[in-house]
Amino acid sequence: MNKQTVRDIDVRGKRVFLRADLNVPLDDGRITDDTRIRASLPTITYLLERGAIVILASHLGRPKGKVNDALRLKPVADRLGQLLGRQVRMTGDALGPGVQVAVDKLRPGDLLLLENLRFHAEEETNDPKFARALADMADIYVNDAFGSAHRAHASTEGITHFLPSVAGFLLESEVRALSTLLGKPPRPFHTIIGGAKISGKLEVLEALLSRCQAILVGGGMANTFLAAKGNAMGKSLVEADQLENASRIMAEARRKRVRLMLPTDVVVAAQIHYRSQRQVVAASGVPKDWSVVDIGPATVAAYTTHLAKARTIFWNGPMGIFEIAPFADGTNAMARYVASRTAAGVVTIVGGGDSVSAVDKLGLVDQMTHVSTGGGASLEFIEAKVLPGVAALLDREA
Ligand code: 3PG
Repeated sequence: MNKQTVRDIDVRGKRVFLRADLNVPLDDGRITDDTRIRASLPTITYLLERGAIVILASHLGRPKGKVNDALRLKPVADRLGQLLGRQVRMTGDALGPGVQVAVDKLRPGDLLLLENLRFHAEEETNDPKFARALADMADIYVNDAFGSAHRAHASTEGITHFLPSVAGFLLESEVRALSTLLGKPPRPFHTIIGGAKISGKLEVLEALLSRCQAILVGGGMANTFLAAKGNAMGKSLVEADQLENASRIMAEARRKRVRLMLPTDVVVAAQIHYRSQRQVVAASGVPKDWSVVDIGPATVAAYTTHLAKARTIFWNGPMGIFEIAPFADGTNAMARYVASRTAAGVVTIVGGGDSVSAVDKLGLVDQMTHVSTGGGASLEFIEAKVLPGVAALLDREA
């Protein structure tokens, strides 16, 4: 990476504003996946061990500029405290006189977590005054929030105009790993793409058509492709306004000689419920009142057979409604297969929230070459878009 990192600066005794992405999923105030907190630890401990004063900040959810008690960072502070083996103190706001008092009391080796940045609308509008006020608390800015690097917000971009700004270890490792896919990844390079909708993934599909040799489609978005080919999809989720886009992508794949594979069989359910009746049917024979909830076993077999040739595999998005256990077989089978290829020397990269949770649930994170903490950020990176949170950091001297 051509950006400076925490290794390039002297942090001893300095106040460091550390932006992390601690936006973890919560269920009734309980953290259901702490991957992002664990992934932020190396930079936090590095700074603390070197005697920096660490002012840690993050957003949580989308409170839209208003205080929302359900989106306070307290559960994150508690979990971080458990992982660090020390109490993590928090402020009641991200900014203000109370915060300044707390910051002024900090000594080298101390850590303070600010309350959710997005309780202030100025965070997302990248308000320069707000960014300046955040910067005024510190001497150095460190961005380790790869998951938010595609957002030009006050704490990811605005603040860099006022402080020397460098990358943390997580951001560095994400950029390094995902860059493999943008450079010359070992070929064949195959992508597995799923998730509910095509609409959010058109740009990444187009970018992948120029880079991959095969794209294997699953999840709700496969229904829209199948419908565009004239199949009746029963009650399944189909994006009626995306049929033309789906046809265009299939035509582009043919023109570019990219193999675009669609499910040949699917699991259908009478209701989206874990006790629902379900059956495997041909993708061309979805019954009228049923919904597609997973890819079928013949599709898993065809996809894994095709993937056996790949030297690079990128996976984004689940193959079905994997949160409901009886509909998770396709996603789980693909996760196990992809993980098994890493040992055979294949580069295996997983990006995007839901496919990452599937891999995490199966305990396979360590068996992949890289599992990204970024959802939207990893997709925009692969689309070769400039990520404002990365671009704004100091360049490494040539
Ligand atoms: C994410 O979860 O992808 C990041 O934390 C960014 O969140 P956002 O999509 O609400 O900006």
